Amino acid sequence: MEGALCKPHGEEKDGLPEISLRPLELADVDDFMVWATDDRVTRFCSWDSCTYASKDDGLKYIEDTVIPHPWFRGICLNNRPIGAISVKPYSGNDSCRGELGYVLASEYWGRGIATQAVKMVVLSIFKDWPHLERLEALVDTENLGSQRVLEKVGFMKEGVLRKYVIQKGSTRDMVIYPSSLALAQD
Ligand SMILES: CC(C)(COP(=O)(O)OP(=O)(O)OC[C@H]1O[C@@H](n2cnc3c(N)ncnc32)[C@H](O)[C@@H]1OP(=O)(O)O)[C@@H](O)C(=O)NCCC(=O)NCCS
Repeated sequence: MEGALCKPHGEEKDGLPEISLRPLELADVDDFMVWATDDRVTRFCSWDSCTYASKDDGLKYIEDTVIPHPWFRGICLNNRPIGAISVKPYSGNDSCRGELGYVLASEYWGRGIATQAVKMVVLSIFKDWPHLERLEALVDTENLGSQRVLEKVGFMKEGVLRKYVIQKGSTRDMVIYPSSLALAQD
C-alpha cells in the first residue's frame, strides 16, 4: 500500500521514494509555504504556522536566510522540494561541531524520507566540512518521530538537556544526539 501511495510523487528504490537534496531557490517558495505554514510541522519548531503569513514572508526568508546559508538543502522528490534539511555551523572554539535540523511536509510523513535525508547529510557533511568533528541534533523530548529518525540512522542519545530552550512560550527539555565521522564510515 505504501508503494502505491508513493508512486505519483517519485521514483522508488527498495520500496522507498527516491529523494535528492539541492539548494532552495526563490522559485521554490510555493512548495516552502506548504510545510512552513502547517501547524503539524511547526509544532516542535522555533517558528509557528503564522511566521510566514504571506508568500512575501516566504520569499524574504529564502532570500535573506536560506540562500546565504552555508548548508541548507531542499529535500526533493522529482526535484520538487517537500521539506528541508540544514546544518548550522558554529564558529571559533565551537567550530568542531554543527547542528542538524530538518522538516518535511506532513503529507509525506511515515515513508522513511527524513531518515534517508539525514543519512545523506551524514555521508556528505564531513566531506564538505573537513573541520567538522561532531554533527549534533537537539530534539524535543516529546518529538518521538524525530528521535526515531536519528536512532534509525545510528545517532546515539547522549542525554537530556533540561529546560534548554524556550519555544512558543514554554521551556523545553531537549534530547541531544551527536554523530561523528565514524557513523559516516560505518
Ligand atoms: C520528524 C519528521 C522529519 C520525520 O519525518 P518522516 O519522513 O516521517 O520520518 P521517517 O518516516 O523517516 O521515520 C519516522 C519514524 O518515527 C516513527 N514515529 C513517528 N511518529 C512517532 C511517534 N509519535 N512515536 C513514536 N514513533 C513515531 C515512525 O513510525 C518511523 O519509525 P519506523 O520507521 O521505525 O516505523 C517529520 O515528522 C517532521 O517534519 N516533523 C515536523 C518537524 C520536526 O519535528 N522536525 C525535527 C525537529 S528536531
